[in-house]
Amino acid sequence: MNPHLTTLLDELAAFGDAHDGDPANAATRMLNITPDTGEFLAVLVKATGARRILEIGTSNGYSTLWLADAAAPVDGAVTTIELAHDKIEMARANFARAGLDTRITLLEGDAGAMLDSLFDASFDLLFLDSKRSAYLDWWPDIRRVLRPGGLLVVDNATSHAQEMAAFTAAVRADAGFTTSLVPVGKGEFLAVKA
Ligand SMILES: C[S@@+](CC[C@H](N)C(=O)[O-])C[C@H]1O[C@@H](n2cnc3c(N)ncnc32)[C@H](O)[C@@H]1O
Repeated sequence: MNPHLTTLLDELAAFGDAHDGDPANAATRMLNITPDTGEFLAVLVKATGARRILEIGTSNGYSTLWLADAAAPVDGAVTTIELAHDKIEMARANFARAGLDTRITLLEGDAGAMLDSLFDASFDLLFLDSKRSAYLDWWPDIRRVLRPGGLLVVDNATSHAQEMAAFTAAVRADAGFTTSLVPVGKGEFLAVKA
């Protein structure tokens, strides 16, 4: 990773910690992945050679930068979906600062509606870090847009296990997926499509 991006990621991690730690910002928290989760995502992207990446839940773009930088050597690209307009503005600025804006498409709106418009088997890797109560409803589309052999990664799988219990149970019960819970950061639930 180039030193400029390392500096930016360190800055964003510190900003997220300070911002989210202030009770006055309870309604506008960044809720970024942990730095070790960023490293883990980068390893997954590089190990799988993922070129077409979908992220649901951009926030200010911290995790998106990890994904896009990891996909750069294979000329990969990230499509990322976010609902909150103020976070979208911050993410766009961060993508430009990183010089990764040409590699990232930011879709503004509700992920449930956006998923509907995405093509079958169009993504190699999908990182899910958004509205946990909606995951079960989104599952048919998530399943559909992943290519055979594609990898689903879900954040907060240990920190908020109960909130997504019905979703993870549905994925685990699907014979078309092989799953694993990895104790990195807030817990990463992995599911690879047959
Ligand atoms: C945990 S944060 C994402 C953090 C980001 N992945 C990171 O690590 O930097 C979850 C984000 O999902 C967004 N979100 C919530 N519901 C959504 C929806 N229905 N569609 C799209 N985005 C949504 C929130 O606005 C929030 O920014």
